[in-house]
Amino acid sequence: MTLRSVLIGTGSALPRNAVSNAELAQRVDTTDEWIVERTGIRNRYIAGPDETTGTLATQAGRKAIEAAGIDPGSVDLIVLATATPDQTFPATATIVQKELGCNGGIAFDVAAVCSGFLYALGVADSMLRTGMARRALVIGAETFSRILDWEDRTTCVLFGDGAGAVVLEARDDGNEDKPRGVLATRLHADGDHNQLLYVDGGPSTTGTVGKVRMKGREVFRHAVTNLAEVLNEVLAEAGTPVAEIDWVVPHQANARILDATARKLGLSPDKVIVTVDQHANTSAASVPLALDVAVRDGRIKPGDLVVLEAMGGGFTWGASLIRI
Ligand code: UT7
Repeated sequence: MTLRSVLIGTGSALPRNAVSNAELAQRVDTTDEWIVERTGIRNRYIAGPDETTGTLATQAGRKAIEAAGIDPGSVDLIVLATATPDQTFPATATIVQKELGCNGGIAFDVAAVCSGFLYALGVADSMLRTGMARRALVIGAETFSRILDWEDRTTCVLFGDGAGAVVLEARDDGNEDKPRGVLATRLHADGDHNQLLYVDGGPSTTGTVGKVRMKGREVFRHAVTNLAEVLNEVLAEAGTPVAEIDWVVPHQANARILDATARKLGLSPDKVIVTVDQHANTSAASVPLALDVAVRDGRIKPGDLVVLEAMGGGFTWGASLIRI
């Protein structure tokens, strides 16, 4: 018997308030042309005072549970990836657990910034395959707008808020030829680069939340190399040729990174799910948000071979191959 983590539902949530580049240009020294040309971003959603990482995560989680058609009480594991928790503690996952009525199971947060969802998925998949849990809600949720320096045009135009979620169930689908579920995951970190993308505060240093700081050009260079490498690793581990991939769901940081990575791998751009134009970079939320968009609009279908990838602060990066 081979237990695998099968994806049985997806969901996502965005704040009510959409902010276009033109609106941003009224408060920051930037232009729509610069943002579109350098990043592909046209719009982002910004949380209002009553919207938090926890409320967005709860909405996304509820939709994923509804799509899976399961009782929330049967979810015995919640792993929530975020760099912008509601509070330093308790974990935002426990807020979601309470709101959704998934009480009694395991709930914790994972901090790997933009790669957070890949890390959360990797942890949940390991726990499901070893029998520690049976049904997992894996969430990526962020309110990066709260840690942006709105005076720094090199960062504040790039990010947005949102949440995405998936439900995974431990199953042996009996199909050894084309099994459904998470087939391979590879995760990496390299702390030597943690000063290229970081927050300049924290509970144990400044006692403040801090603001995002980034050396964008250097991050860009590492991103393309690391993402192409980890995608090749995950495909090699699963013995899957690149030509068999139906869809790539990348971390949505910059349209130019998506294009360059696809080119490096020899992947057609029409196999890449792109939402960066609408959502901007939502950090840990970006991969599950893009996945949910493509599942709900019918592009990603049951049986499709999908690869997820992300890279972020730390540096951390990773990829996961899933048959839907
Ligand atoms: O999610 C984690 C992973 N994060 C990423 O992957 C982000 C990776 N990096 C990037 O996406 C890109 O490096 C950026 C979009 C952040 C920047 O694009 P770039 O082409 O690397 O631009 P740059 O930083 O080299 O800046 C070029 C020019 C500079 O002016 P000078 O020095 O050439 O006169 C900047 O001051 O663009 C200027 N600039 C802006 N101009 C208008 C920087 N930000 C802005 C802005 N509006 N918002």
